[in-house]
Amino acid sequence: MCGIVGFVGHRQAAPILLEGLSKLEYRGYDSAGLAVRDGEKNAEVVKAKGRLSFLYDKTDGGKALVGSCGIGHTRWATHGEPSVTNAHPHVSGNCRASGSGEVESEVVGVHNGIIENYQELKDKLLKHGYRFYSQTDTEVVIKLVDYYYKKYRIGPIDAIAKTMVRVRGSYALELMFKDHPGEIWVARKDSPMIIGINDGESYIASDVPAILKYTRDVYYIGNLEFAKVVPGAVTFYNLDGDEVKKDTTHIEWDAESAEKAGYEHFMIKEIHEQPKAVKDTLSSIFQEDGIKISLPSSFLSSLSQIYIVACGSAWHVGLKAQYTIEDLCGVNVRVEMASEFRYRNLPLAKDSLVIIISQSGETADSLAALRKAKEKGVRTLAVVNVVGSSIAREADDTLYTLAGPEISVATTKAYSAQLVALDSFAIKLALAKGTITEEKAKELIDELFSIPAKIERILEDKGRIQWFASKFSNIHDAFFVGRGLDYAIAMEGSLKLKEVSYIHSEAYAAGELKHGTISLIDQGTLVIGILTQDDLYEKTISNLVECKSRGAYIMGLTSCGKYSTEDSADFSVYVPRIDQHFIGSLAVVPLQLLGYYMSVSRGLDVDKPRNLAKSVTVE
Ligand code: G6P
Repeated sequence: MCGIVGFVGHRQAAPILLEGLSKLEYRGYDSAGLAVRDGEKNAEVVKAKGRLSFLYDKTDGGKALVGSCGIGHTRWATHGEPSVTNAHPHVSGNCRASGSGEVESEVVGVHNGIIENYQELKDKLLKHGYRFYSQTDTEVVIKLVDYYYKKYRIGPIDAIAKTMVRVRGSYALELMFKDHPGEIWVARKDSPMIIGINDGESYIASDVPAILKYTRDVYYIGNLEFAKVVPGAVTFYNLDGDEVKKDTTHIEWDAESAEKAGYEHFMIKEIHEQPKAVKDTLSSIFQEDGIKISLPSSFLSSLSQIYIVACGSAWHVGLKAQYTIEDLCGVNVRVEMASEFRYRNLPLAKDSLVIIISQSGETADSLAALRKAKEKGVRTLAVVNVVGSSIAREADDTLYTLAGPEISVATTKAYSAQLVALDSFAIKLALAKGTITEEKAKELIDELFSIPAKIERILEDKGRIQWFASKFSNIHDAFFVGRGLDYAIAMEGSLKLKEVSYIHSEAYAAGELKHGTISLIDQGTLVIGILTQDDLYEKTISNLVECKSRGAYIMGLTSCGKYSTEDSADFSVYVPRIDQHFIGSLAVVPLQLLGYYMSVSRGLDVDKPRNLAKSVTVE
């Protein structure tokens, strides 16, 4: 959601800002804008609705905007429709209709997040003579900074601190003050922002890929902190205006991993990167001297209940992990959507563990759920992909997935890395509980390490799925069914399809289908049955036959050897055999490919599906 970039150095800012924004396009946006200053001159603002390429054209690739200090933004509308007027940057003065051109304003800024009390603040500012040209909450916060700046004739430090105390909600803010050339001021609460320094120049971004090309040593601004960024240096402050010392964090990701590397889309590239993501994640956990999950065995052995809390695909990982943990460890697991969990008054047992799963580590609902668990005094474990993200920093313990930067909005490799991270956790817990022996654990770990090569084998045969997708790309509905662990995989397969191909699809526990949904099955309806679990195989086959007898076209997804699937299914897909607990890591791959190729066949924007954002940092 929304992207922020900033640059202050010795080169022209606009081309660098545009390039940074292009690296954040995947997050989802509907308009974009830049503000650049040339020395002491006023900032020049340019905005465009729609694709970043419009802004690129308007500024001649940034060449038309002169100056070495600037801020940029891609907006994903929350308050006010997508339009040039509502696009950022916003200014403290009045703005001409185009929203572009040189601005006389005292303060110019961009913002990610949501200001919850913006109406109350707007009313206050209206009384003090401010006029508003946009419908955004951002314009309110910029004008509030201006109000404090002018009213008390105080510098940026106090104006920003006062504003931060006054606003409620979440924000990553970038500001430029007319009287402070060569400086960008940033502030943050619950919305990500990093600052990188290299060679006497400074880069600001809401997300790592935007600055990877320039530096991998970054500062994380803490919650409720702000900073002054000048060429090659940054000073951090807390709400009292006192300086805060910080060290940089080194990001291991390389710039190439955030590029397409010859693939047509990031999604297919990332599907192909899954063997590496799984292997890297497993190798970081299972090391010569033990299982690197920081929870002590003494805590795990007395654990009575686990809550897994997440959103989207990460929630689906939780659903799958529930089966594995319950079966291997004999511990109750509840899986909750973060958006529900945060507002429920669920009694949490003291000897329980809350696991938050999040690729970005910034999802607003997951972060709020984490805080709620902590408030209740329950130990928290974060399973996160982005190093230094809010969830990673705030959880009691963190288990990192090593999927590298994931650019496609529809997650694939991060999901697969999360699956094995949770499987690894299950093995550690089972050992602590004594529900498996060391020998069994070794066997299971060997099976986990066989996943990467088996995914490679599935990918070698992707042509069949591509053919199938092109044949069915005109369908309107699809149903994914499975039982047990297969149901959890069906949920992910269905989400992948609907996210990127816009085909209506639903996932059902196969046994539940006949309680209503089967009335939707008609001549030619596509029903995809997932049948990897030996003990549930016959049951799911019966459910597929019920669909087939009502005219459905059946795709069966099972493991090698279960060839009788062809007696009932019209099209069968096989994945290599593996321990039943881990087969979801294989079964999901053909479903990811199906979603991808359906989207390609329909000529859609695979990596940036409409209305979706990679990282949902608002409620
Ligand atoms: C968005 C993404 C999904 C993702 C979900 C949770 O909706 O489009 O792919 O699963 O957020 O994101 P997280 O970063 O917390 O895993």
